[in-house]
Amino acid sequence: MAEQRARKGADSGADHDARPYVPHTDDLDELSRAAASCRGCPLHAAATQTVFGAGPRRARVVLVGEQPGDREDREGEPFVGPAGALLRRALAAAGLDESAVYFTNAVKHFKFTVPETGKRRIHKAPSLREMTACRPWLVAELASIRPELVVALGATAGRALFGGSFRVGDHRGLLEPLPADDGAEGEQVLPDARVLVTVHPSAVLRARDRDSAYRGLVADLRVAARALAD
Ligand code: URA
Ligand code: SF4
Repeated sequence: MAEQRARKGADSGADHDARPYVPHTDDLDELSRAAASCRGCPLHAAATQTVFGAGPRRARVVLVGEQPGDREDREGEPFVGPAGALLRRALAAAGLDESAVYFTNAVKHFKFTVPETGKRRIHKAPSLREMTACRPWLVAELASIRPELVVALGATAGRALFGGSFRVGDHRGLLEPLPADDGAEGEQVLPDARVLVTVHPSAVLRARDRDSAYRGLVADLRVAARALAD
């Protein structure tokens, strides 16, 4: 009976959050390898693969997006689709060297729906529950890299770092300390770093006035570039 209960507990834990899958290490390669077999929430089932972060292990800046898109899901790398192309252009325009940046996402599996008509997979925003489930990976990446600056791209990244009531408009363009960790028990601890919030590059692609939205993103990223030059 006790054994049965324990097993039941372990099973439900397996679909509860990423903690049972995150190794206690600050070795980024080991984290990345372990993330490939994460079953911490239901999103792994329909997606092609885990899309872990990518970039230098000692990056001064970590950029946090929402979740991989269709292209990222197929290629296994973050920000290689249209939003990534726009983001990389904006980084260059702001004077941030892309090769010094680590790219990652708040959620590591692609969430999508397939409409009955057509085969194209349509991106679906992750729920707070999925963000919370996946957060141990993000915290482990940040604890391993210990960047000086974290750039949160949009509301999902912001919620993952600041909590569920986060709003982009309250933080956008400001340099703030990364909030003290109030994560789940057993999660690693967020490092001391500053955080800058801006919009998500996909929001720029969708904006009615794309040029002005793009200029806004670049202006925010310039704040990040200046912070690193200090
Ligand atoms: N959008 C994101 O938030 N992340 C990616 O990796 C790609 C698109
Ligand atoms: Fe694990 Fe995150 Fe993928 Fe869910 S989305 S299975 S928590 S890696």
